[in-house]
Amino acid sequence: MSLPRTVKIVEVGPRDGLQNEKQPVPTAVKVELIERLADAGLPAVEATAFVSPKWVPQMADSAEVMKALRRKEGVAYPVLAPNLKGFDAAVEAGAVEVAVFGAASEAFSQKNINCSVAESIKRFEPVVCAALALDMKVRGYVSCVVGCPYEGPVAPQKAAEVAQRLFDMGCYEVSLGDTIGVGTPVAVQRMIEACARHVPMARLAGHYHDTYGMAVANVYASLQLGMRVFDSSVAGLGGCPYAAGASGNVATEDVVYLLNGLGIETGIDMDRLLDAGQFILGHLGRAPAAKSARALLAKRGAGGA
Ligand code: HMG
Ligand code: MG
Repeated sequence: MSLPRTVKIVEVGPRDGLQNEKQPVPTAVKVELIERLADAGLPAVEATAFVSPKWVPQMADSAEVMKALRRKEGVAYPVLAPNLKGFDAAVEAGAVEVAVFGAASEAFSQKNINCSVAESIKRFEPVVCAALALDMKVRGYVSCVVGCPYEGPVAPQKAAEVAQRLFDMGCYEVSLGDTIGVGTPVAVQRMIEACARHVPMARLAGHYHDTYGMAVANVYASLQLGMRVFDSSVAGLGGCPYAAGASGNVATEDVVYLLNGLGIETGIDMDRLLDAGQFILGHLGRAPAAKSARALLAKRGAGGA
């Protein structure tokens, strides 16, 4: 199959990237990061999560973030909402797109949202209904689509079953999360093929973590099957509080570099993206994890084009 001409990147750094940071990141820094990412051309920036602050303390300022945000026309700012309590708070704070997040593995579901996969689907139904009644869009996530930190390898059919439930429920897009980054290209393709038997490819997104350095290869393998939406995190920020050893999401810079090289349009300005990465890394006191960002910044420092 020929590669797509355009790809949509969903930036998840401000949520997935920051949720695991131990030191509190000031609300104003989160807001500036989101605004910088939108200004760099990201069409969707997942802004925060309306989850229990006892479970994920870094997301405790979700309402403040949403209220302070200068929103750019045409950019989506989805937020996580695991239940009606989170959904109501998200609406109250001005969110117009939410995401529910399930898992393909029972153990991960228990650790992450304190219920079984079947119970999670029951909890998401009223959230999706309430959102659709308000004309809001709902994105769905399936975590651990290739492997689980507690159960090991996950069968593609498991991921496909949960993806189908979320899609049938009314999620406009289902993001397939290799939460612990164990996937390799053929395993990821088998998983996508299983999901695409139940959910149209145009409604599937790839959400890959780079724990084993395979995330860019997995994006390329997914492109070859016709996938056109990918989640990524500026500067490769991330991890998951309930997936020990999971390193960051694939870096947005690496994905944009790959897509630029393939002649695939994203609408993202690499220079502004690098600036957004430098901005947040400056606050975290860290160097970029993304190899492309390191190389491009070194070239910039040396006065190269
Ligand atoms: P629970 O303890 O079973 O919930 O947690 P509960 O209904 O029994 O409530 C317990 C307490 O939490 C109560 O407060 C509720 O009011 C409060 P208390 O009476 O003890 O003071 N509560 C809430 N507070 C704020 N917002 C809410 C909310 N709901 C209940 N929405 C719950 C269940 C789902 C709430 C909890 O497990 C939770 O918040 N989990 C979130 C975990 C999380 O955010 N994980 C990271 C995101 S998923 C991810 O990163 C993977 C992904 O990126 C894909 C990938 O990488 O593959 C998406
Ligand atoms: Mg993730």
